[in-house]
Amino acid sequence: MTQRRDFKGVGIIGTGSYVPEKVITNFDLEKIVETSDEWIRARTGIKERRILDTDKGSSFMAIEAAKKALENAKISPEDIDMIIVATVTPDMMFPSTACLVQESLKCKNAAAFDLEAACSGFLYGLSVAYSFVSSGIYKNILLIGADALSRITDWTDRNTCVLFGDGAGAAIISEVPEGKGVLGLDLGADGEGKNLLKLVAGGSLMPATEKTVKNRLHYIYMEGNEVFKFAVRKMEEISLKIIEKSKLKLEDIDYLVPHQANMRIIESARKKLKLAENKVYVNLEDYGNMSSASIPVALDEAVRKNKIKDNDVILLIGFGGGLTWGAMVIRWYSKGRF
Ligand code: ACO
Repeated sequence: MTQRRDFKGVGIIGTGSYVPEKVITNFDLEKIVETSDEWIRARTGIKERRILDTDKGSSFMAIEAAKKALENAKISPEDIDMIIVATVTPDMMFPSTACLVQESLKCKNAAAFDLEAACSGFLYGLSVAYSFVSSGIYKNILLIGADALSRITDWTDRNTCVLFGDGAGAAIISEVPEGKGVLGLDLGADGEGKNLLKLVAGGSLMPATEKTVKNRLHYIYMEGNEVFKFAVRKMEEISLKIIEKSKLKLEDIDYLVPHQANMRIIESARKKLKLAENKVYVNLEDYGNMSSASIPVALDEAVRKNKIKDNDVILLIGFGGGLTWGAMVIRWYSKGRF
């Protein structure tokens, strides 16, 4: 272990993302469950989602997103000291998906592990990566949010199957010039909400049996309305808390990249932050909720579309199963990347 060094800032020096080509529209869903394009768009804002081919796992998407992030950061796989994959849909129970990424990309010098905080996974991972870099223990960390929720979606349950999609987003966390990078972070959890959003079978408590399969216990169970109320309250609360904690004012925030679960949830946060509509990145109409991939895919798209510029103060916020939540404020550093 090295000593803490006089670091400057810690931030994101490269991003990348990947979504599968296969599209499932609301009209496709009308054919398999009792729903309508009108209901889905009005209640969620989603029009379509991407679905991973059945012969592939989350690692495939993670690797594709990571390749783009490495290219964007202009660093080689050997320079990566640690790989963190945030996911609730690993390829398998073990080895970790991070180890599969490490092998495929030949990141020979990297430690690798998975992290699970449901839809808050990317923000939890960013906080872990930030801590390792700011302490001086590691220099370059590859963080990926990758989820194939299509694999754990009950396609006969209209309450949930209209909401989710597959994808992966990646970021390289490293040292950045002084004054840039992470300005503040906040994570939280409330296990009392453990039953609102869960997948109960396949773990050590309830291993897979014929009965668990028959009872459809290998799929996401969600009390949508309760999760919705929690999400609106929490997104508003953490947005204000993180601004205060980072010693900023509302007007200091240039751009919001929220978790993409429901347009009504995003809108409530945007209004609380008094941000104009064009100061929020939204792609859930095209992808639905991709769990831990939602924030990094949105971030990568916003950066590549030049919506986020050097020195902008951006706010990332999300919530998910657990219940969990997280927020991070970053002064963007993009010099020389595009
Ligand atoms: N099509 C048509 N009707 C539907 C559908 C559908 N796809 N889904 C539900 N309905 C019906 C319900 O059955 C209900 O009918 P009823 O009144 O006859 O019982 C009615 O619509 C209203 O249901 P509500 O639950 O009150 O609808 P709501 O406005 O809350 O919207 C939604 C539902 C979209 C699920 C919302 O609650 C939501 O977005 N919740 C948060 C979801 C979320 O963010 N989850 C995070 C998961 S991420 C993770 O960690 C994996």
